[in-house]
Amino acid sequence: MNSLIPLVIGHRGAAGEAPENTLASFQLALEQGADGIELDVHMSKDEEIVVCHDPTLDRTTTGSGRLRAMPLSEIRRFDAGSWHSKRFQGERVPLLDEVFELVPEHILINIEIKDSYSGLMETKLLDVLRKKNRLNQVVISSFDAQCVRHTKELEPEVKVGILYNSFTNNHVQFAKKLGVELHSLHPHYQRIGKGDVSAAVAAGLSVYPYTVNAIEDIRKMIDYRVSGVITDYPAKMVELLKQS
Ligand code: G3P
Ligand code: CA
Repeated sequence: MNSLIPLVIGHRGAAGEAPENTLASFQLALEQGADGIELDVHMSKDEEIVVCHDPTLDRTTTGSGRLRAMPLSEIRRFDAGSWHSKRFQGERVPLLDEVFELVPEHILINIEIKDSYSGLMETKLLDVLRKKNRLNQVVISSFDAQCVRHTKELEPEVKVGILYNSFTNNHVQFAKKLGVELHSLHPHYQRIGKGDVSAAVAAGLSVYPYTVNAIEDIRKMIDYRVSGVITDYPAKMVELLKQS
């Protein structure tokens, strides 16, 4: 479904102003009036789902090494906020479960699967969503089409979307060729035009371009009538929508 007013979707929370993919970042996005958040997931050695963009701890925490090689207890020892600023010292790599404790059910959560881990991630992720009773709150997306297909096969009720950064002349055709019932397209914002958006919406697809940070680009996406804009700066977009 599309509306004239696109959803404001905070990328990794409010990653322009807080340490990405932390509870503090998600909290800030909520405070700024975001309608949804986007986050990335990986798996620990003991098969817990953790929220982190990279497969390693190196860039965004005080630790180092691969998340998949470490038990949760070890991952949680490291600080995930101080690299950004002292103000956020003490943040930890969140468990996906914790995000559901923080984020109310009316807020859309776009979960991006970064690594399928041979299909295990899809199974474990759906287990968490069922346990937390949050299947309807999420859109699960991935650049990996097989992972998107697998997710939908395992749970037909869940909404899935495809991420892409490639040029295509026909986005609807591209979506159809994937052979999965998609809820949404998640293109790079420089890969779509107004006609692409209206054709996708007419075909029943939502369109959530990423990662749109400059005011003029956000304005353009609003003009294109996309379904939602994934941005590091939810406050900026909320302000823009208030003015229009
Ligand atoms: O989901 C949109 C966007 O987050 C995809 O790219 O690298 O920021 O995860 P990336
Ligand atoms: Ca992402």
